[in-house]
Amino acid sequence: MDLSTTCFGKRLPHPLVVGAGPLGDDLDTVKALEDAGAAMLVLRSLYEEEITGEQMDAFFHVEAHSDAFSEASSFEAESEMPLGPDEYLEHLRRVKRAVGIPVIASLNGCTAGGWISYAKLLEDAGADGLELHLYHAASDMTTSAADVERQALDTLREVKRAVKMPVAVKMVPLLTAFANFAKQLDTAGADALVLFTRFHRADIDIEELEIVRSLPLSDSSELPLRLRGAAILAGRVKASLVITGGIHTGIDVIKATMAGAHVTQMVSALLRHGPDHLRTVRREIEAWMQEHEWTSLNEMRGNMSLERIPDPAAYERANFRMALR
Ligand SMILES: Cc1cc2nc3c(=O)[nH]c(=O)nc-3n(C[C@H](O)[C@H](O)[C@H](O)COP(=O)(O)O)c2cc1C
Repeated sequence: MDLSTTCFGKRLPHPLVVGAGPLGDDLDTVKALEDAGAAMLVLRSLYEEEITGEQMDAFFHVEAHSDAFSEASSFEAESEMPLGPDEYLEHLRRVKRAVGIPVIASLNGCTAGGWISYAKLLEDAGADGLELHLYHAASDMTTSAADVERQALDTLREVKRAVKMPVAVKMVPLLTAFANFAKQLDTAGADALVLFTRFHRADIDIEELEIVRSLPLSDSSELPLRLRGAAILAGRVKASLVITGGIHTGIDVIKATMAGAHVTQMVSALLRHGPDHLRTVRREIEAWMQEHEWTSLNEMRGNMSLERIPDPAAYERANFRMALR
């Protein structure tokens, strides 16, 4: 059975990739993930503010997995000392020495500036690729969607000029014109589009008058939003399509592949069940394919995408109407 795929110009034995987050923090865990068959690993993000030395907003910090691989259901957004830029480079070098699978670094930022030059240092430290997480809060009423998109495209072009390694962009969901922006990223040279950023949860403690932030682990219910994103783009962009968010089972991977994904990343499922879960998911994929007489994921890829539909916009609109009736 052929589960092989390509992403970032690399041929991978199967689409199961460890997504950005705490799983890449510890060398023993990284080795266990490789042993369990991870095809690729994305390290947690290094933030623009960490590079420029600005005060980081606790908003973005998520506590490392203190009860990892137990049935943890969420992460407290407590203060964690993130890796500084030099430590990040050193950690990347150590991970590269420890494992043979491709290791992808991740940079998170949104303004033009010196932090972008870090991409080159990550490449020099051995990164096999870079995931750019261009999150912009966009809460300033004078900043338009076009301004935010232009900034992201400029950043991508600047990074692409600076490095030879492949560069992915992790996108946010729910843009006004998602397909158009994805196409612009594709044209600007994104080697992969990662669908989608998953937001932390901000609630209000009405007794303490405080904002309570957490990042609950996902479940498969988060997948359909990503399936729709991949189904819209499949076959219409050069970039590889990556789904992150709600991949927990072999069936989730099958659905993602049918929508058009080349690669599926997992974080929550691996934090909840441990590295061995990769083996389980792989077995589930193979069992389903065997039962349904598929011999290759490549044959299946995109068979449920909008590319197969003559008028995607009318189809989507009709679905929308029918669902609300
Ligand atoms: C504890 C934790 C830390 C994360 N850290 C990062 C990060 O540093 N950079 C990033 O781009 N995404 C980060 N993510 C998001 C994941 O990469 C992933 O996109 C998201 O969790 C959805 O995938 P999942 O449903 O498999 O968890 C983090 C997620 C979790 C749960």
